[in-house]
Amino acid sequence: MHMIPVKTGRPYSVLVQRGILQNAWQEIAKIKNYKAVCIVTDDQVAPLYLDVVTRSIPDSVRVEQYAIPHGESSKNGENFFRLQEFFASCKLTRSDLIIALGGGVVGDLAGFAASCYLRGIDFVQIPTTLLAQVDSSVGGKTAVDLPQGKNLVGSFYQPVLVLCDPDTLSTLTPEIFRDGMAEVIKYACIWDASLTEKIKAAADPAVLEAVIARCIEIKAEVVAQDEFDNGVRMLLNFGHTIGHAIEQHYHYETYTHGQGVAMGMYTITRISEELGITKPGTAEIIRELLLGYSLPLTDSISTRDIIDLSLVDKKSRDGGIHLILLSQMGKAEARFYPRQELENFFLVRDRLTW
Ligand code: GLY
Repeated sequence: MHMIPVKTGRPYSVLVQRGILQNAWQEIAKIKNYKAVCIVTDDQVAPLYLDVVTRSIPDSVRVEQYAIPHGESSKNGENFFRLQEFFASCKLTRSDLIIALGGGVVGDLAGFAASCYLRGIDFVQIPTTLLAQVDSSVGGKTAVDLPQGKNLVGSFYQPVLVLCDPDTLSTLTPEIFRDGMAEVIKYACIWDASLTEKIKAAADPAVLEAVIARCIEIKAEVVAQDEFDNGVRMLLNFGHTIGHAIEQHYHYETYTHGQGVAMGMYTITRISEELGITKPGTAEIIRELLLGYSLPLTDSISTRDIIDLSLVDKKSRDGGIHLILLSQMGKAEARFYPRQELENFFLVRDRLTW
């Protein structure tokens, strides 16, 4: 088993082990003697894993279950308040527990609901997608979407434990698996170039488990240094400015988040290489990794649209934005670009052959 400590204001551990779902409660009970638990999941994950987790809980603990419809559209204020009412109708108290069992949507919604119910009730993340395992379940970002944009209402609220079972990845569609691989590739780009070869070999479940654990270690290190996203945590946004612009341009209907990030990482590195910021050959390494997981490299969206959408991104500040750029594989920095410099930077895209 990999046990990764996350040294935030309220510290916790991430446990990574194949089959850990069967022993979920055994691990949770080490934290506290919870008397009641509400498992929040979705209608796709429930038939696959709800019973396994529930069976691990002894009869002495009261178990409530709540399944939302799957998909990003469930991450809204309406479901947030439905959950609050459900928790209240189950008479959950501050000494009880919420479990988020599912992908990023379930984790973000249930985590945000847990952060607000009774001004905060313990919650455990049990992520069942690759993206949730290596990214969203660790670090305490919780949120719901508004019609005006994704994740606009939320909180930093750390779970008390994260249980990560790589066996759950076997039931993902190839597209959803690759979606998470884009975030895995991101860690090789920004932090640990030695992941590059392991990512190529990740069809082997033992290698995949080690790769997941390494990504979580990196995320834990970043979050411990900058829990509230004012500094080094920004590096996790590598590829996300262009990625978000592309996702948003197509109203989140054409590309998954990981596909957007894949195009963002490749595009920004081609540009920064052209400008002499990044070591030549870096974009080619990223290209190979992305193609290995059938992730897209580019899209026909205009550079003007990328610029305009980047400037309304929630991460923009004072008319400019921090871009995350690589000096080489495994080394990233955040550079602030005021509006005009940002335009000049992105317009380099039109000089390149794609
Ligand atoms: N997903 C980026 C972060 O947790 O900061």
